[in-house]
Amino acid sequence: MREFIESLPKAELHLHIEGTLEPGLMFELASRNGIALRYPSVEALRAAYQFSDLQSFLDIYYEGAGVLQKREDFADMAMAYFRKASSQGLKHAEIFFDPQTHTSRGIKYETVVRGLREAQERAKSELGVTSALILCFLRHLSEDEAMLTLDEALPFRDAIVAVGLDSSERGHPPSKFARVFERARAEGLLAVAHAGEEGPPEYIWEALDILKVRRIDHGVRCIEDPRLVQRLVDEQIPLTVCPLSNVKLRVFDTLRDHNLKRLLDLGVKVTINSDDPAYFGGYIGENYVATADALALTQAEIETIAKNSFDASFV
Ligand code: HPA
Ligand code: ZN
Repeated sequence: MREFIESLPKAELHLHIEGTLEPGLMFELASRNGIALRYPSVEALRAAYQFSDLQSFLDIYYEGAGVLQKREDFADMAMAYFRKASSQGLKHAEIFFDPQTHTSRGIKYETVVRGLREAQERAKSELGVTSALILCFLRHLSEDEAMLTLDEALPFRDAIVAVGLDSSERGHPPSKFARVFERARAEGLLAVAHAGEEGPPEYIWEALDILKVRRIDHGVRCIEDPRLVQRLVDEQIPLTVCPLSNVKLRVFDTLRDHNLKRLLDLGVKVTINSDDPAYFGGYIGENYVATADALALTQAEIETIAKNSFDASFV
């Protein structure tokens, strides 16, 4: 099964580049940039990766991103991701980045994007992997702050294909970002949003009707609303599901309890993605293998999911 999955061409549509920063590289960048980490060793850092929910993960994830200072730091991190995922059959990636995590620390938007673009070009020429960037707004911050971030991004308009919405979901509905998404769409950008990971089905409706997203990131809580599931099926709106993430962040108790197979059986266009692989214990290949094992997916079902990933992509 592993060889079958690794040889299957796959696209990844739900991947936070800051979530690919492995402990080893984090320590290397900390030392390169003269930054002290709270943890004495890679092992101690890894041992802290025990999460009870989304927020407990985000706290440690934002802290880890503090070692990223220079253009080459972003390039090195992204290149490490491309190499690893490419070895597992990745052909195309649509990659989230969180500019506010960096600009709030005094790092220029341009520094982040130049580093990521450099890695994208190398991934294409050295590995044959194509990619696009999706700018995510942090939903625990205000819409005015998101608007300022869009202002910073527009001089580099061609660097990104879409805008997205991530960070703490509960209490921060998509409707909070109606105006900034409207402006991004007017600029010709596509839209996606995290919804229905910890938040209710209502947030998925809002993402579709107010933000006019083309895909829902996570979306697994749609299952609580049969009318919503019917809409996702009728309109073939893709869900970018992240199985290992969902278990680590306690959305499901175990992988066997995951609803991906039920959604697939209902006709929802599901894809499999890694979310933050350095924190959740697996890249795209490992997410496919673990899910296939736990839910007893057939080869035909796995092929459908891989095909969905290209159908759902923006290329
Ligand atoms: N959900 C919300 N925000 C995030 C995630 C996630 O899974 N990963 C990184 N930022
Ligand atoms: Zn995510």
